[in-house]
Amino acid sequence: MKKVGIIVGSLRKEAYSKKVAQNLALMLPNEIIPEFIEIGTLPLFNEDLEDQGVLEWTAFKSKITDADALLFVTPEYNRSIPGVLKNAIDVGSRPAGDNSWNGKPAMIISNSPGSIGGFGASQHLKQVALAVGMTIIQPAEVYLSRANALFAKNGLLNNDSLGRFLNQVITSLVQHILSAPATDKRSSQ
Ligand code: FNR
Repeated sequence: MKKVGIIVGSLRKEAYSKKVAQNLALMLPNEIIPEFIEIGTLPLFNEDLEDQGVLEWTAFKSKITDADALLFVTPEYNRSIPGVLKNAIDVGSRPAGDNSWNGKPAMIISNSPGSIGGFGASQHLKQVALAVGMTIIQPAEVYLSRANALFAKNGLLNNDSLGRFLNQVITSLVQHILSAPATDKRSSQ
């Protein structure tokens, strides 16, 4: 079985980002397991603690290592990514020589109730993702605008054409995962 690690950049209970991610998870075929990877409980990164084996950091890094691909769904905060997401990326990238992100394929999706769909957050996330060695799965430009109006009361997408578009996006992620050669999932530099 292959696994996609899903990372949501918002901690808000009713986050549109979480709803987008949940809808995307439902589109995955049975042979790919979605695993939502929690980032809200990670202690803030602090180099002074690197030698102390912070349990939450270690457990988080294992989940990244274990994933065949990653799916990020993020809102935009002040034209960038939320600090909680940047913290998670910093945690996963350390200690030096044990970067859990290295070589991981990642699909990046931003969203916003506004009209430009979190474009700034997506750009910043792609920059950081590349810096820590992830590869970006196409389509690399998925910006969902008016996120507040995309869901029915039950949380499912209320818009067929968006559903078709996101199905294509997920198909690209799935093809990427299924066509990848078996890899050693251990972390590397
Ligand atoms: C925002 N919001 C926002 N929206 C946007 O399109 N561009 C931006 O730069 C910002 N900046 C921003 C900063 C901060 C601190 C907050 C709390 C919010 C609004 C944001 O898109 C909105 O709150 C979304 O609902 C957040 O996403 P989730 O939590 O619904 O996924």
